[in-house]
Amino acid sequence: MTRSPYEELSLAFGDASVPYLYGHDCTPALAGALVDRLAAGPAGLDAVLLVTDDGVRGHAAAVAAELARHVRVATVPLQAEERHKTLPTVQHLLESAVAQGLTRRSAIVAMGGGTVGNIAGLAAALLFRGTRLVHLPTTPVAAFDATVSLKQGVNLSAGKNLAGTYFVPTLIACDLAWLATVPRHDLLTGMAEMVKNILVAAPELEKKLVVALDGAPPDLRALLEVGVEAKAPFVAADPRERAGALIFEYGHTAGHAIEFVSGGTIRHGEAVAWGMLIAAEVARRRHGLAAPDVARHHRLTALLDLPAARTRLQALDRGAIRAALAADNKRGYGPCAPGEVLMVLLDGIGRPVPGPPGGPPLVPVPVSAVIDALEEL
Ligand SMILES: NC(=O)c1ccc[n+]([C@@H]2O[C@H](COP(=O)([O-])OP(=O)(O)OC[C@H]3O[C@@H](n4cnc5c(N)ncnc54)[C@H](O)[C@@H]3O)[C@@H](O)[C@H]2O)c1
Repeated sequence: MTRSPYEELSLAFGDASVPYLYGHDCTPALAGALVDRLAAGPAGLDAVLLVTDDGVRGHAAAVAAELARHVRVATVPLQAEERHKTLPTVQHLLESAVAQGLTRRSAIVAMGGGTVGNIAGLAAALLFRGTRLVHLPTTPVAAFDATVSLKQGVNLSAGKNLAGTYFVPTLIACDLAWLATVPRHDLLTGMAEMVKNILVAAPELEKKLVVALDGAPPDLRALLEVGVEAKAPFVAADPRERAGALIFEYGHTAGHAIEFVSGGTIRHGEAVAWGMLIAAEVARRRHGLAAPDVARHHRLTALLDLPAARTRLQALDRGAIRAALAADNKRGYGPCAPGEVLMVLLDGIGRPVPGPPGGPPLVPVPVSAVIDALEEL
């Protein structure tokens, strides 16, 4: 029997289940499987809108060529920058899709990092009130974290991910060889979401992460498994990430504000890593997070090549950070007074501080306490 060139797992989001195909150097097989699976659905498949990240032109050309052997392909390149993760870019995509003659029998294929995935994901949810969506993630954040989520959000002028929806993709497929061109610094900081998974939900996976990162090159297959293993049970039970799965917002309150105020020059993973260190300091001061647990945050984030960004972090305008914190998209999930922001905090590793009875695991924290913790870094 011939071995399949890729492996397959199934991600559950409530009642929905999404196949995730992954392997190494298997682009033709993945492209073939993509077409076969979409064509086998009740709608068939008449065309694909391949939305590509400018940073992955070579990989995208190979995918486009493979897809074009089976189906009509139109390509829309996007600049994967935080300042373009906006509604006008979504509209540009929608206009392009219609101009290219997409129908209800077509699909949007998003190839790139989390930025392109979110823009194309929101466009897929809106086109004809829902068009099939395939994710081809090319960064660690996208492959190991963002695609293990139904959230599709874009930024407004006040802050990150303030407009969006939930949308179930039809398929996720990743040739891990695509990640080989991610610069090492971005590859490492992109692992912040994996560190987050360990700190907040799966401390037992720490060794697997450390061993996987130690290799040259890192063991991407093992890293994908760390991402999926930790998060999958939570999104299966809470597909809209509004209850138990909100713990994966750990590090994201301060992190999103840092990423947004930096204009995306401090990338998502890096910003989340700083956000977790800030959350640990807040929790030490306010919830008695023990010194060894704070030290574990520093030990794990030290694997991520952070120091390079410290000067940029310290240069960020504190007033702008306060404003971005005030616009955080978790507002309203629980009680929170003016001047406070809702955060996921830990009182031990793998132990989120509970929220109000029956409510999500979010704790109100004065914005001034977040800024104080930032100054402490
Ligand atoms: N639940 C979710 O939907 C979710 C989860 C995590 C992050 N996100 C979002 O994802 C975004 C961050 O995504 P990201 O970290 O993947 O970064 P990104 O998509 O912003 O990409 C960063 C840079 O890497 C380049 N790039 C992408 N793939 C590459 C490759 N294989 N080789 C070389 N360069 C490559 C891009 O062109 C870009 O310049 C943020 O906007 C964040 O909010 C969403």
